[in-house]
Amino acid sequence: PFNAKIDSLMSLMTLKEKIGQTVMYSGDLTVTGPVVSNNNQKYVKEGAVGAMLNVFSAKATRDLQKLAVEETRLGIPLLFGYDVIHGYKTIFPINLGLAASWDLEDIKKGSRIAAQEASAVGIHWTFAPMVDISRDPRWGRISESAGEDVYLASKIGKAYVQGFQGDDLSKHNTILACAKHFVGYGAAQAGRDYHTVNMGQDELWNVYFPPFKATVDAGVETFMTAFNELNGIPATGNKYIFRDVLRDEWGFKGFVVTDYFATNEMVVHGYAKDRKEAAKLAIEAGVDQDMMSNANHLYLEELVNEGQVDVELINDACRRVLLTKYKLGLFDDPYRYSDAQREKEVIYKPEFLEVARKSAAMASVLLKNDNKSLPLDKNQTIALIGPLAKDKENIIGNWAAEGDRKGKAISVHQGIQEYLSDSKIVFAKGCEIEGEDESGFSEAINAAKRADKVVMVLGEDYDMSGEAASRTNIKLPGSQTQLIKAIREAVPNKKIILVLMNGRPLDLSEEDILADAILEAWFPGTSGGYGVADVLFGAYNPSAKLPVTFPRNVGQVPIYYNMKRAGRPMNPNNPKEDYTSIYLDSPNSPLYPFGHGLSYTTYQYSDITLSSKTIGFSDTLSVSATITNTGDYDGHEIVQLYIHDKVGSLTRPVKELKGFKKVFIKKGESKTVNFDLTVEDLKYYTADMSFNVEPGEFQIAIKGSSDFDFKHKFTLE
Ligand code: IFM
Repeated sequence: PFNAKIDSLMSLMTLKEKIGQTVMYSGDLTVTGPVVSNNNQKYVKEGAVGAMLNVFSAKATRDLQKLAVEETRLGIPLLFGYDVIHGYKTIFPINLGLAASWDLEDIKKGSRIAAQEASAVGIHWTFAPMVDISRDPRWGRISESAGEDVYLASKIGKAYVQGFQGDDLSKHNTILACAKHFVGYGAAQAGRDYHTVNMGQDELWNVYFPPFKATVDAGVETFMTAFNELNGIPATGNKYIFRDVLRDEWGFKGFVVTDYFATNEMVVHGYAKDRKEAAKLAIEAGVDQDMMSNANHLYLEELVNEGQVDVELINDACRRVLLTKYKLGLFDDPYRYSDAQREKEVIYKPEFLEVARKSAAMASVLLKNDNKSLPLDKNQTIALIGPLAKDKENIIGNWAAEGDRKGKAISVHQGIQEYLSDSKIVFAKGCEIEGEDESGFSEAINAAKRADKVVMVLGEDYDMSGEAASRTNIKLPGSQTQLIKAIREAVPNKKIILVLMNGRPLDLSEEDILADAILEAWFPGTSGGYGVADVLFGAYNPSAKLPVTFPRNVGQVPIYYNMKRAGRPMNPNNPKEDYTSIYLDSPNSPLYPFGHGLSYTTYQYSDITLSSKTIGFSDTLSVSATITNTGDYDGHEIVQLYIHDKVGSLTRPVKELKGFKKVFIKKGESKTVNFDLTVEDLKYYTADMSFNVEPGEFQIAIKGSSDFDFKHKFTLE
């Protein structure tokens, strides 16, 4: 519907102005908010900038928009982008935690809230969701991912897009989503950020591409390039992924922005000889907007005039950017998003904080709960120990936009105060998150001695994960493990409950032995303390399941449930058998597998029933299992459907998630859960790279975690 308008606008635009739409600059972030430099203001007035990042607040965006609209020749409004990753002001659990809820409706709801808050302060566009498959806990950005699984990450990516963009982009409370980072960023060598990625077509098409394809199918408006090189070509200059795959094969109609400075980094990669060549490579690859490299702004005009870049490439990029501005309604009212009144009304709305509280509870994974150590009893005294117990700064997590790390954040201590009077809480910090100082141990031991149970809140600093936060050691930092050991020794018969806040799977092999119960709370966000306390006291019966494998040690990394099978796999009846694919010094199995997560109740799964043992290409296989709540609490169970394609023209993973349902089952009751499978669900990119299904035998199971052996099968004929 906007073509005629865009044609007419573009007929008035100079080449410089068209290039302007392909340029993004950043405001500076100071303690008091964003500041736009005089230089950037000058560029805006010249029509040399199409978008800004890191400018927010109704006032700041309105002021800058005014320059673009009132002081440029054509008055084309700016686009304001910002990293609204797991909330804007009301912060939800980090994305890895949200993924652990497996609750697509909740994720949609959270991103809808984020869009409502962000849009009120003038933000049109979030750089989310990150849909990079992440299988390496050393990589700090695993915290921003949906974990290791293709199916789950694809569903979650779609939910974010639907939440941010809503059903109508022209509404003033929806924002553009951005699928990032295309592609392979999560596979950075040895988990080191920005590092090299080399992967074959099988992995690229069957693992790393699908979540991106899912966002395209969900209507995502923008894509961001990855920092890494992919098979020798930096993503930002990679024609194959942007033109051949994203545009031609998937039919993506939106626009592509680089990651911050990524055009320039092609020079550092050794792919472009200088920034000018980098600008040419990026636009040729199908990358429409240059975030911060200053390459398009400086060189595109020259490149066109020298006949080195086809002007149609610029026209195409400019058209795509203008189209999103039309879709957002910015040409009708460029200020509609910068609304000081709405900003006041929507930020931290009580109902948003309530949703965040529930999200925090739904994200918390009960990894271990020996002898029903949890839930806590409101009549007992607890020793609350650890550097994160009263923390409000880290609980918000990394990439937390404008989330308040002081007043608004609710600590675990505050959450617990809702259930216990102060006289029943004996607090001791014990140690810091990092550092070897053990001088606080004795106070912590005394606290443990005075209480009925011990609750320890330990973990990482929030900035130990996120961008540029890779670790080679994935244990609890500092002297925290020593602190648990000291307390275990001092009160050998008291229950120790460990609550963890961290941005990645940790090596918890020691903690698993020392603690009676472990609750993985990730960084649970603004209302995190309430949500965690709701779980600790049983107001919410935990239902989360791991979206990512927790290894026994860093040497097992990368480890994920849907690996391929070696030609000499481990013999389960003799795991030490020589010349099989094993470690000499560690089991192959992880500490906690993908899909694992306990509840205060127990569930019993019946054998599955299949509608048929053999299906044809146009049939639907109906598979069901009955799940009985055999414990003492009502609960939600995340029921998982797995298959294994036994023989393929390309080898297939040992297990693949193909469906899940979150069902509520009252204690003592049973529910039958059904999944319908068609050949579409069995397709993959085969040896000739066609998306196809191959006949043969498949194994199938419905379970509560990925840790099981298949017992049932069917044949596709
Ligand atoms: O959106 C981010 C990206 O994920 C990493 N580099 C910076 C961008 C903009 O802040």
